[in-house]
Amino acid sequence: MNNKSKQELLGYQSYSIQENLTYFKPTKISTTTTFAEEIRHTLLQPKKSISPKFFYDKDGSKIFDEICSLPEYYPYNAETEILQAIEKKLIPYLSNEFHLVELGSGSSVKTRLLIDILLKSQNHLQYFPIDISEILDQSAKNLCMDYPNLSVTGVVDTFENGLDFIEHYDDKPNLITFLGSSFGNFSKNEGMLFLQKINNLMKSDDLFLIGLDLKKDQQVLHNAYNDSQKTTAKFNLNVLKRINDELDANFNIENFEHHAVYDEEKGRIEMYLRSLSEQSITISKSELSITLSKDELIHTENSHKFSISQIESSLKESNFEKLEMWFDSQKYFVLVLAKKI
Ligand code: AVJ
Repeated sequence: MNNKSKQELLGYQSYSIQENLTYFKPTKISTTTTFAEEIRHTLLQPKKSISPKFFYDKDGSKIFDEICSLPEYYPYNAETEILQAIEKKLIPYLSNEFHLVELGSGSSVKTRLLIDILLKSQNHLQYFPIDISEILDQSAKNLCMDYPNLSVTGVVDTFENGLDFIEHYDDKPNLITFLGSSFGNFSKNEGMLFLQKINNLMKSDDLFLIGLDLKKDQQVLHNAYNDSQKTTAKFNLNVLKRINDELDANFNIENFEHHAVYDEEKGRIEMYLRSLSEQSITISKSELSITLSKDELIHTENSHKFSISQIESSLKESNFEKLEMWFDSQKYFVLVLAKKI
């Protein structure tokens, strides 16, 4: 007799934190080794880089929340404004049995707005945040406390694996959300592959809600990534602290400076850490020593800004039917609702 649960068969171990709060983690996970190896690889390239996914350790996630409260960081404000306005427009697409699936656990403010909308059409809601880390923070526990009709089932894995897991979980329809223009971090190629993967994993009655940052006045873009309080600089520099702490490295944060510019041709903000002097760095757990010349840049993030026509053709190319596009009053940001063709 096979008495293994479906989740175990899919290679996940379940952990129950409290009533209404469970999470699933793949049985085999080696986060530190993969972090060390990836850093080794990207810092050995002729053009050095650190992936933006490494920004979000505990401190980094906190600093990102601070960024979201800056007046200059319009993406957060614009997307929140849209979410606050769409309740009546979203409800007709829902039924009484949707799951909420969030790629990237996101800010609990935005999650709450979506939960409120879904709970207008159903008595109970199951919420699946998918994230490689940070799912089990206090905000998940607070959600459970504040919403007695909610169960939170976190999946600690990559978006693709996590979504695959949830699509096999049961046959209820999913509202899959990918908010905050996190999509903007992908290259054109990565973005297409990502959309195709999501589309392939989706069931025919699933909905996909994606938040995307739009092209706009360059000064507005510049200010959003060069804020006067230097919070974005702190966010960018924090990744070096994280490498120091987790990979036994010796970056001197004072010897680096935040640099963010808009490249009009590529339609993206590019973020870098600039080395202020010639210096040598050792990253023990990556078994790596490197030298940086004065003014050498370490690339840390691309944040793409999209036109409506780019969005429409990407959706088409990845087999999505666009259902709705919702904008904020300044047309800085868009929420797109789509389903599988
Ligand atoms: C979460 C990737 C959308 O690109 O605006 C904010 C991250 N970086 N300030 C963005 C970020 C610097 C953010 N995304």
